[in-house]
Amino acid sequence: MRVYLDNAATTPLDPEVLEAMLPVLKQGFGNPSSIHAYGREVKAAIENSRKTIAKILHAAPSEIFFTSGGTEADNAAIFCSVRDLGIRHIITSRIEHHAVLHTVEELEREGKIKLSFVNLDEKGKVSLEHLEELLKTNERSLVSLMHGNNELGNILPLKEVGELCLKYNALFHSDTVQTMGHFPINLQEINVHFITCAAHKFHGPKGIGFLFISNKIKIQPFIFGGAQERNMRGGTENVYGIVGLAKALELASSHMEEHKQHILGLKKYMLETLVENIPGIQFNGDSANENSLYTVLNVAFPPTENSEMLLFNLDIAGIACSGGSACSSGSNAGSHVLKAVYGDVDRPSVRFSFSKYNTKEEIDFVVEKLKELYVVKVS
Ligand SMILES: Cc1ncc(COP(=O)(O)O)c(C=O)c1O
Repeated sequence: MRVYLDNAATTPLDPEVLEAMLPVLKQGFGNPSSIHAYGREVKAAIENSRKTIAKILHAAPSEIFFTSGGTEADNAAIFCSVRDLGIRHIITSRIEHHAVLHTVEELEREGKIKLSFVNLDEKGKVSLEHLEELLKTNERSLVSLMHGNNELGNILPLKEVGELCLKYNALFHSDTVQTMGHFPINLQEINVHFITCAAHKFHGPKGIGFLFISNKIKIQPFIFGGAQERNMRGGTENVYGIVGLAKALELASSHMEEHKQHILGLKKYMLETLVENIPGIQFNGDSANENSLYTVLNVAFPPTENSEMLLFNLDIAGIACSGGSACSSGSNAGSHVLKAVYGDVDRPSVRFSFSKYNTKEEIDFVVEKLKELYVVKVS
């Protein structure tokens, strides 16, 4: 048996998404910028996809810009805010994805911005009081805080943060890569200027995503070239990716509650069986809480002599999941997220992340292996 529990890293392609992409791969080879019929057909497929996505998010199609994925979208939002919108101060957290952290650090290194990190509580949750303190500066600020944390499963109250940003006239960027397709997002109800998406996190293809840019703001191109994406991002479009992205989001949104119940059931089951079977187990961040990402469970095992071998042994047993300990020993570079919340305490941590394709039998198999690998070694 092989079990894939690394769905926060990426998800398998849904066969229905592949079905939607195949005609474009086979016949839709025209260049969307060409004015002849071959071009017009694929251009129409792109614009229909844009409309589908905009409708799901309650946005305007003109607010959706296709990108190569989450990283490009995060980079573009942050760079453009500084270059085009007068941002001189960025407020973020130490548990953001590197697509955000490395971008803001680069801007700070270049002397273009002042960087502030918002305080986190003992579970890694953002302090809204401290955020408000930071927003009270006179500089024009960009708040960049992720909606769902890919390691800890922590969820940011998007609406409340949006209101704080509105109160202090700040721009708000939220990396929604982990929540897109898993949580309903209604952009009419949230004051947010940029959100980001990567299709491969909800059974779509890799290398495609989008950046939502609110109509309230106007930026300059972020990839120079042709007139694609309303002059903002040059380059011949990834047409089959775009069609796959729209299909994946459509499927994820229309079955969201059903998938949520299934996945949440698996997560709770795993949590309970782990607590019953492995003494001293703990859960990182907010991942054991009802309000966290239902796709993520981050487990801290009690340290053993063989802690460093845990992931390796799981892999040998056919189980795919992600590691991340706070310490940087061995080949694992360590998790900047666990380090930010728990310091250098070395707790062998494993992130299990689930999808609609996982089953209860798979969870039983994983817990059995963990018992074999772990409990035996402790005693
Ligand atoms: C929270 C978050 N942001 C951004 C990204 C980057 O997305 P992509 O791999 O599509 O560039 C990821 C994926 O690993 C992610 O989990």
